[in-house]
Amino acid sequence: MDGPSLIRELKKSVTCTVTDDETTLESYGTDWTSEYIPNPLAIVFPESIDDIREIIIFANKQNIPLVPSGGRTGLSGGAVASSSELVVSLDRMNKIIDFNETDRLLTVEAGVTTQEIQDFASEHNLYYPIDLSSKGSSQIGGNIATNAGGLHVIRYGLTRNWIKGLRLVTGNADILDLNRGLTKNATGYDLKDLFIGSEGTLGIICEATVELTEKPKDSLILLLSVSDISVSGEILKSFRNSFVLNAFEFFTDSAVKHIDTISKTKFPIKNSYYLLIDIECTTEDELLKVESLYNDFNNRAIISDGVISQNAKQYKELWSFRENITESISVYLTYKNDISVKPSQIPLFIKDIETILTRDYPDFDTILFGHIGDGNIHISILKPHEFDKAEFLNICKEVNNHIYRTVASYGGSISAEHGVGMIKRPYLMYTRTSKEIELMKDIKSVFDKNNILNPGKIFPS
Ligand code: FAD
Ligand code: LAC
Ligand code: ZN
Repeated sequence: MDGPSLIRELKKSVTCTVTDDETTLESYGTDWTSEYIPNPLAIVFPESIDDIREIIIFANKQNIPLVPSGGRTGLSGGAVASSSELVVSLDRMNKIIDFNETDRLLTVEAGVTTQEIQDFASEHNLYYPIDLSSKGSSQIGGNIATNAGGLHVIRYGLTRNWIKGLRLVTGNADILDLNRGLTKNATGYDLKDLFIGSEGTLGIICEATVELTEKPKDSLILLLSVSDISVSGEILKSFRNSFVLNAFEFFTDSAVKHIDTISKTKFPIKNSYYLLIDIECTTEDELLKVESLYNDFNNRAIISDGVISQNAKQYKELWSFRENITESISVYLTYKNDISVKPSQIPLFIKDIETILTRDYPDFDTILFGHIGDGNIHISILKPHEFDKAEFLNICKEVNNHIYRTVASYGGSISAEHGVGMIKRPYLMYTRTSKEIELMKDIKSVFDKNNILNPGKIFPS
């Protein structure tokens, strides 16, 4: 059946809104990656789990690939529709369903944004700890499908830790109600966990039950500058041994000129690398301890300079420098990597990665940043004006092989938190054995026997 006939058939077969105007196709056919040209067949906007089941039944019958679509803030092309897929947008499934204060469990539809969950928690004097700079747009369904990490993983873990139940429709059109909010459930395989991080390839998440926790106590930021990143391991160990850390982040000085273009205040210190440590600190005694540890590192010339936030306004301001990195470079075509090793390996690993980057990208503006307390670094390579897109991407992909060989030699991962999607698909074997990939494909075929859900994402279809 040709495209227009399929759309006519679709409109007859499903109850929800179907859109195929150019502007909607273009914006819903892509995420934050700029590598692929959006080319979806149409966009559907289901409003209930039954609508989603109807769409999946239609897709199986007509053999139409579906792309589940959340806030489209993904950085790996997981929500990209570039091959005439039908995009299933969760935008209209954005209701809060239930909240139980005793259980601290919040049940929401998949299209509720991360920010809305955080705000709901805060209004009830609680806290949802998954925090990403994209939280205003990213949806809980997308966070679950990517097992999103973010800024506080060192203290609270990944999205997986906070998901206590999922209602979803599999690629075979079965409705599953998994774990139903239980804390303890020792009855065989945890199917819920299979869907967390599955990047829309096994089922469409319709509802999630999320656990909330108590609000963190008063905290401060310590922003440090260092000339040599090899000291970061000792700094992490010392602060972690003495305090509860909410975050342990880093970025290279190459980020600062970009951050300064969108920040309200000028970045305060100068050196090759910056560490941003978010420390729970509630008493005068603890503050004195932070200052004494800071002075000790300073006296030993391990750090060169630093700022300690003095109030809530400065705490936010210092965080904003780190949070603004991705947005500040979004005016450029940027090639991104998101790699991880164990936190203790970070100092040596960064040095090895920098050697490759200086050798292979001598003229490119390259920014390293990320969550080094979790062993996770992001690399952003900015396309110089004089390069055309294809030439630039080809170089990046060649260099990837050097970067990923190094990642593999550390036993690390080619994607820490952004997912494989389409962008990292050719490199999966650097992190996963062929047996693991074969087993993942077998699992996919159990839940999606006709391969209609996000084909070509994670591994070639
Ligand atoms: P989308 O981009 O729409 O989709 C992502 C994947 O999930 C796709 O494979 C899609 O098919 C699938 N999907 C979406 N909804 C569903 C559903 N209901 N059911 C099944 N599958 C679904 N990520 C981090 O981990 N940590 C960060 O710190 C972080 N910071 C970011 C900062 C910025 C400025 C930006 C732009 C992105 C950042 N990201 C970060 C990446 C991104 O925000 C996360 O991956 C996020 O979880 C994606 O959510 P989304 O709703 O936008 O999903
Ligand atoms: C961040 C995103 C890019 O850490 O993951 O800002
Ligand atoms: Zn990140």
